[in-house]
Amino acid sequence: MTIRVGVIGAGNIGTAHAHNLATAVPGSTVTAIYDVDQPAATALASELGCRSTASLADLINADDVDAVVIASPDGLHAEQALACLAVRKPTLCEKPLAPTIEAAQRVLDAEVAIGERLLTLGFMRRFDPGYVALKREIGAEGIGTPLMVHNVHRNAAFAYGLTTEGTVTNAAIHEIDINRWLLEDEYARVQVIMGRSGPDTPDGQRDPLFIIYETAGGVVVDIEAFMMARYGYEVTCQVVASDGVSDMGDGGYITRTTARVRGQPVPEQWIGRFRDAYRIEMQAWIDSIRGRAGPTGASLWDGFAATHAAEAAVESLRSDGWVRVDLPSRPDLYR
Ligand SMILES: NC(=O)c1ccc[n+]([C@@H]2O[C@H](COP(=O)([O-])OP(=O)(O)OC[C@H]3O[C@@H](n4cnc5c(N)ncnc54)[C@H](O)[C@@H]3O)[C@@H](O)[C@H]2O)c1
Repeated sequence: MTIRVGVIGAGNIGTAHAHNLATAVPGSTVTAIYDVDQPAATALASELGCRSTASLADLINADDVDAVVIASPDGLHAEQALACLAVRKPTLCEKPLAPTIEAAQRVLDAEVAIGERLLTLGFMRRFDPGYVALKREIGAEGIGTPLMVHNVHRNAAFAYGLTTEGTVTNAAIHEIDINRWLLEDEYARVQVIMGRSGPDTPDGQRDPLFIIYETAGGVVVDIEAFMMARYGYEVTCQVVASDGVSDMGDGGYITRTTARVRGQPVPEQWIGRFRDAYRIEMQAWIDSIRGRAGPTGASLWDGFAATHAAEAAVESLRSDGWVRVDLPSRPDLYR
């Protein structure tokens, strides 16, 4: 059985996902593309040999669309996810589920009412070979009990127009999710510290941010989120544990030594670092729909929990000090 996918949003990540599904993920094909920018949708559709649709409803309801990828801007995910749930089609929704708890809650309530896990969140770092190896380091066979996690997330420039809140809800949301997943723990409280801003920071905004979470289990998780770092894209993660320390460097790059210089290339943006993770994520999603695996990847609950933790951090931007993360209890559907 081939899963026929419709893709909403023909921008950076929608294009990357559509190409993977059409050419690099056995068991899937792309049949339809929708974007409010119709020329962008038509161009991607003709590249892939499929059609573009005139509306969101045309794509979601099409008989030859078995599953949907949502790759539109952050603020549209919740409404589009609700539309996909209404027709009961498996959907992979890009992160974040929503920038606010209120919107995220409506999607969570809808899936719980249906009583079936249909929505997967695009937290692809869970499939990145670097993070997968780092998770294996944790525990009695490895470095022991985690005590602290140090995260770095730097972009050369922020693609969506830098806002201080957006750094949390759009970018650091990756660290918020991956540390929950690494530690299998929830956040209890958060504090954001803002230092001096870099030269490219727009007036009224702050960058970089230093975000500190404490988990229910007492682990301290810090995140340097620097969106206008100029030099390139870099994501690293170091786990400090009872019996040792493990570092996930910035991918598996070759170190080249030439005349008086030793170094590694730095990717310009995220696709260069996480190319494999996006493909592996799509394969796992398609395999789960084809019934070869149960629900896989981040659930709607994971998306909700991440938005919850992000909103507390946004509140901390306005209040000077710790803010509690009051995550409601997990519905049975996600246990
Ligand atoms: N998982 C990751 O690592 C990762 C990486 C990049 C982007 N993203 C997420 O993917 C989403 C898209 O990011 P991007 O970089 O591709 O942005 P983008 O701006 O390149 O693309 C977004 C596309 O959505 C289209 N669009 C706008 N309104 C729409 C609507 N109402 N219906 C359908 N399409 C609409 C735009 O015309 C544009 O083509 C964002 O939410 C972002 O957070 C995730």
